[in-house]
Amino acid sequence: MKEINLKNKVFKQYIHKDEIDCIIEEISKKINQSKIQNPYFLAILDGSFIFASDLIRKIQIPNTQISFVKLTSYEGIESTGTVKELIGLKEDISNRNIIILEDIIDTGNTILEVFKSLEKYNVSSISVATLLMKPDVYNKDIEINFIGKKIPNDFVVGYGMDFNENGRNLPHIYKLKK
Ligand code: IMP
Ligand code: MG
Repeated sequence: MKEINLKNKVFKQYIHKDEIDCIIEEISKKINQSKIQNPYFLAILDGSFIFASDLIRKIQIPNTQISFVKLTSYEGIESTGTVKELIGLKEDISNRNIIILEDIIDTGNTILEVFKSLEKYNVSSISVATLLMKPDVYNKDIEINFIGKKIPNDFVVGYGMDFNENGRNLPHIYKLKK
């Protein structure tokens, strides 16, 4: 297996790009076969940009839309810690069936924040699709509807995912060598 260096850390090849293609094909089939109508995909930047671009071209549901959003942190006025806000939504998403696209779900903190941010919009439904998931560390109650591949608690990079903003361009997925 090929190894690479990123910022003085060694990563070894883990999921080949051909396997990623198969995983995405599977997810797209499940979404296409689901009863979700007029889906409005929300791709969570930055990590999901490649996953979203590959997946969306395989979605064949009429009236499919996609928007790219980002979760930002800012200090709350009452110093109760950081508040998260979803930025980048351009359109009214009320009464839409939302499908959140994530690159990887770890503890689930991010997905929980996205759910909280969507509370103020009167959406019809929210589903979640993720390329990778670490079930051993996920500790939230939100159901993850479409899971590409479950992986152990390893740190991965490539295919949009980063290690300190490096490695997003790698076509395969690599994992940190212990
Ligand atoms: P969570 O909030 O703990 O579920 O983590 C989700 C977010 O953290 C993802 O959107 C990724 O951006 C990042 N992340 C989690 N695990 C990894 C990893 O193994 N490699 C790169 N990024 C990760
Ligand atoms: Mg991310």
